[in-house]
Amino acid sequence: MRRKVLWALGFIALALLAVSCAPHATQDTLKPAGPNARDIKNLFVPVFWVAVAVFVIVEGGIVFIVIKFRHRKGRDRMPAQTHGNTRLEIGWTIAPALVLAFVMVPTVSLIWKLAAPPPAGALHVTVQGHQWWWGFKYTDPDMTTNYGTNQQVTVADVMVIPVGRPVYLDLESVGGLITGPNPPTSADFQVIHSFWVPELAGKQDVVPQRTNHILLSADHPGTYTGQCAEFCGLEHGRMKFQVLALSQSDWLAWVANQKQPAVTPTDPLAQQGSQLFLNPLSGDRGTCITCHAIGGTQAGSPAAPDLTHFADPAHACFAGCDFSTADRAALEAWLRDPNAVKLGAKMPNYNLSQSEIDALIAYLDGLK
Ligand code: CUA
Repeated sequence: MRRKVLWALGFIALALLAVSCAPHATQDTLKPAGPNARDIKNLFVPVFWVAVAVFVIVEGGIVFIVIKFRHRKGRDRMPAQTHGNTRLEIGWTIAPALVLAFVMVPTVSLIWKLAAPPPAGALHVTVQGHQWWWGFKYTDPDMTTNYGTNQQVTVADVMVIPVGRPVYLDLESVGGLITGPNPPTSADFQVIHSFWVPELAGKQDVVPQRTNHILLSADHPGTYTGQCAEFCGLEHGRMKFQVLALSQSDWLAWVANQKQPAVTPTDPLAQQGSQLFLNPLSGDRGTCITCHAIGGTQAGSPAAPDLTHFADPAHACFAGCDFSTADRAALEAWLRDPNAVKLGAKMPNYNLSQSEIDALIAYLDGLK
């Protein structure tokens, strides 16, 4: 029995050790890449060591006493019975209070600092938590498209930001599919998500009917991966996203491109795909534009990802960042039956034929 328990404990320890190691973990809070994430790490490390010291002293004392004063054969007398020890009691009340006070001062001051209003010059982005993907709407006055009704630049799955500039996020839960047969209301799909890019900032809940905020900034150009961190339904674990930090010149080029309407296809196959996308599919199968938007066309629904610049190199992943945009096989599988590759996805199976899929991909591929 004792042996079995030891084996079990050994395996649990080994499993913990195995899952705690990754050479290039992309979601590592201990490798901060922005000022707020760094502040959080710089608070975590001393608090961690204080906790380690408390653990070692308390557990060490327990283990020492348990071994030193254990029952031994032939020693049958009762130990001396004591009741109350004023000095000890005062000591173990004051010592933890001092430890907590020591930890509280930097903790509370950092909480205040992180909750401060946005600094001047911050980029404002509204983050929209859907089931199960993230939308990003750039809400500054200079971030409107230069076509149609000059709406705010909106993207999905990859939030692009300029390096070094603070980005102030409004976090909103906006639900999922809002149209379809027997349309459920948007509120039916409004659930609590949590927005988390471990290398850039802390974690913040995304709560229906209210707006939370978080401030982040990236020190260096690069891709930072994020993840929904609050159970929000079937595909919670695959509700991922990326933050792509660009140098100032790359950022300006990206913004200029985002303001443009979608490319009008010239290739015949892509033109065919565009017709399929923008018009009802034959045989009452539905319409892509019931949910999707493509800038400069009649497609304008915010229910599903905005595909205006789907094939832009900055848009590296789609469908909750689960698939690479450049992965044609993944895109084909997605169009053939979204639920087969991502169970619970709100995009229905449109029973697309192979030639329809080819045409749609040709169209999407051109949306740079
Ligand atoms: Cu969204 Cu978990």
